[in-house]
Amino acid sequence: MFRFFITSLSALSFTLSASAQAQADNLYQALGGSPGIARVVDQLIVEIQQDARISPQFKETNMKRLAELLKEQLCVVSDGPCQYSGDDMLTVHAQLGIKSAAFNALVEDLQAAMHKNQIPFPTQNRLLARLAVMKKDIVVSAP
Ligand code: HEM
Repeated sequence: MFRFFITSLSALSFTLSASAQAQADNLYQALGGSPGIARVVDQLIVEIQQDARISPQFKETNMKRLAELLKEQLCVVSDGPCQYSGDDMLTVHAQLGIKSAAFNALVEDLQAAMHKNQIPFPTQNRLLARLAVMKKDIVVSAP
């Protein structure tokens, strides 16, 4: 009976640590889920608007709508339970003439937004790596 108790206890602790590990592996959870992503995106919008390097490119943009779409997109990209309802990155950015320097500036703004929300560096880098693959669709190719 005692042996059974010990065996079930260790099985339980294995299950718990396996699920804790699964949570840590889940980027969406590591970012703080939906409220965590919302805080990061809201701060990102502030950073963009204060960033003279790229703010002019957003002067015609509905920033409220952009924030909502970015929240959906970052949720999907981090394996969260969401759907992205915006257009694809190539279509959205095709006519904007975005240069590599502007892309890097936005990445720095996102880093600042995550830093201000206490997102640890390894988690920041996991998200940035998933966004980096979009660069080819967002930036105009060099002539
Ligand atoms: C990883 C980098 C980026 C991501 C994930 C991203 C994502 C998005 C998303 C989700 C939208 C909304 C899509 C829609 O309207 O259906 C959007 C729109 C937009 N993005 Fe980006 N973007 C990135 C980089 C940039 C950069 C570097 C710039 C310029 C400096 C930029 C400028 C814009 C502008 C101006 C719009 C609004 C277009 C409009 O009003 O029709 N984006 N972006």
